Amino acid sequence: MSDENNRPVVISARGLKRHYRRGSETVKALDGVDLDIREGEMVSVLGPSGSGKTTLINLLSCLDAPTEGTLTIAGKSVAGLGEDELVDVRRGTLGFVFQKFHLLPTLTVAENVELPLVFLRRPVDRAATTAVLARVGLEGRSGHLPRELSGGQMQRVAVARALIAKPKVLIADEPTGNLDKANGEQIFDLFRSLVRDEGLTVIVTTHNLQLGYLSDRVVTLEDGRVVKEEKGQALAAAGAAH
Ligand SMILES: Nc1ncnc2c1ncn2[C@@H]1O[C@H](COP(=O)(O)OP(=O)(O)O)[C@@H](O)[C@H]1O
Ligand SMILES: [Mg+2]
Repeated sequence: MSDENNRPVVISARGLKRHYRRGSETVKALDGVDLDIREGEMVSVLGPSGSGKTTLINLLSCLDAPTEGTLTIAGKSVAGLGEDELVDVRRGTLGFVFQKFHLLPTLTVAENVELPLVFLRRPVDRAATTAVLARVGLEGRSGHLPRELSGGQMQRVAVARALIAKPKVLIADEPTGNLDKANGEQIFDLFRSLVRDEGLTVIVTTHNLQLGYLSDRVVTLEDGRVVKEEKGQALAAAGAAH
């Protein structure tokens, strides 16, 4: 038996809603989501375009506030927190990867990876940067510029940048949306190995079913609601091995 249900919950949402007003109409982008993310699991959020994935991710990332419902991150209720306190929750706990990489074109690979440390006013340690770049399979690329890399490599730089401040949870919204199949699989494999070997927690959205099911757990959204929760291949494989 695997112990996945005994691990502490790191993110917990109850009745989470995000409604937008569009003229006289209300768009129920998220309409009552309950979700527990446990430490050391990789969870895919699947669903068609417009189902609410990005809305959910923005709430879990504390970039946006819910219309209704509660959200607890690393034991702290984030409802009603001010901007400064939200920033504290974000930087102590969360790392982010985006669809479009968002690397700064004039900075080297190493400088891009170190940027969060600069913003956090934490010391930069080039040896640590080199180590995290090696972890994502980019040894020897520190001095390159982003334009000298492939899309898959750029996204791995972005993963290294998300890891440099040692987050508990990595949140990735459609990280494979701009990648081909092989590079997309590489990103999911990298996430899986970070979860397995380093105990990281990963929440990743995708509309690609094949990739989504590589996770431990798969949550499917439709019209702003969770319509399905399933085991993914990683957990099924771990269960079979026990
Ligand atoms: N800022 C916004 N204002 C109004 N409607 C929005 C806004 N952001 C998202 N929506 C709507 O909310 C729904 C969910 O969008 P989104 O979370 O981006 O879905 P997904 O990421 O699954 O494609 C869509 O109908 C979208 O048009
Ligand atoms: Mg989206």
